[in-house]
Amino acid sequence: MNSMDKETMDTLQATIRDMVQTGRGILAADESNPTMAKRLKAIGVESTAETRRAWRSLLVTTPGLGEYISAIILFEETLQQTTDAGTPLPEAAWAQGIVPGIKVDRGKIPLALSPGDLITQGLDGLAERIQTYRSQGARFAKWREVYAIEQHVPSQHGIEANAEMLARYAAVCQAEGLVPIVEPEVLMDGDHDIDRHAEVTEAVQHAVFHALHRHGVALELMILKPNMVLPGKDCRRAAPEEVANATLRVLRRTVPAAVPSINFLSGGQDAEEATANLNAIAQLGSGSPWHLSISYGRALQQPGLHAWLGKAENTGAAQQALLKRARLNHLAMLGKYEASLEND
Ligand code: 13P
Repeated sequence: MNSMDKETMDTLQATIRDMVQTGRGILAADESNPTMAKRLKAIGVESTAETRRAWRSLLVTTPGLGEYISAIILFEETLQQTTDAGTPLPEAAWAQGIVPGIKVDRGKIPLALSPGDLITQGLDGLAERIQTYRSQGARFAKWREVYAIEQHVPSQHGIEANAEMLARYAAVCQAEGLVPIVEPEVLMDGDHDIDRHAEVTEAVQHAVFHALHRHGVALELMILKPNMVLPGKDCRRAAPEEVANATLRVLRRTVPAAVPSINFLSGGQDAEEATANLNAIAQLGSGSPWHLSISYGRALQQPGLHAWLGKAENTGAAQQALLKRARLNHLAMLGKYEASLEND
């Protein structure tokens, strides 16, 4: 049983209502500073608080973005930054109906005494940090656990330790009035086939929902952000129907119908591949108990980032590129995407 008071439950329910809407998805723009430095270096831009602010200001002020995007995940630094016009970024997002949220984990480290397994840090002091984030406008949170695939990795022990972290995080979020996005990401790095990715994803999701249950997390008031089930990057590519079938089979076996929304991460798929796979999932998964949507980072941002190149005069072109990806993913959520639309 969970022991949230009515006011907290109403707050969480209102956030779910604003985030989970047909044809709209979540934009992940919560790259940590080292990750953002990598993304900016790829376009020849130095990562500074100002270049990171400029890029994220461009994202949240993209005209019309709110039509396709219902929420944005921000990084701690961004919550306190402003648009070029001086509006706090969370406020600018909400001005277009985009709910601002915050990544609250502090990144992954090796799981001690368990070679190959990883674990995410950040639970100490989390309730206090969340109170600050709420006062800065955040209404939901994200926490990512990461699982690499090797011959004997992830171990069962690693899977259980990670599930425990996700459940403890989700419980703290709900107690403090933030909707938790629960993100267990089984990486696509490696040469494993799609069956191996399915096997690991199923074991991971099973453990995550077992732990969420133990910790009394209200499944109706959270969002799941899983990986799609895919062959490893160094394996042959799979057709979207094969990805959709494998992904839906695993999720049907493990994710209770009480969960309102499943928002896939893109995980290193290129932008068009991520949209085509989403479209197949929407088509084959129509009638699923959950809303099927996205929480893409790279697959939404990359084309815009490459159009921007850190130059103010490219802002319009970058926003157009972002809007195009958001719109094509919107169509894919409805199962109405076709590759030919890429050329429009
Ligand atoms: P990608 O879609 O680039 O995988 O990013 C999503 C995310 O938020 C990872 O934590």
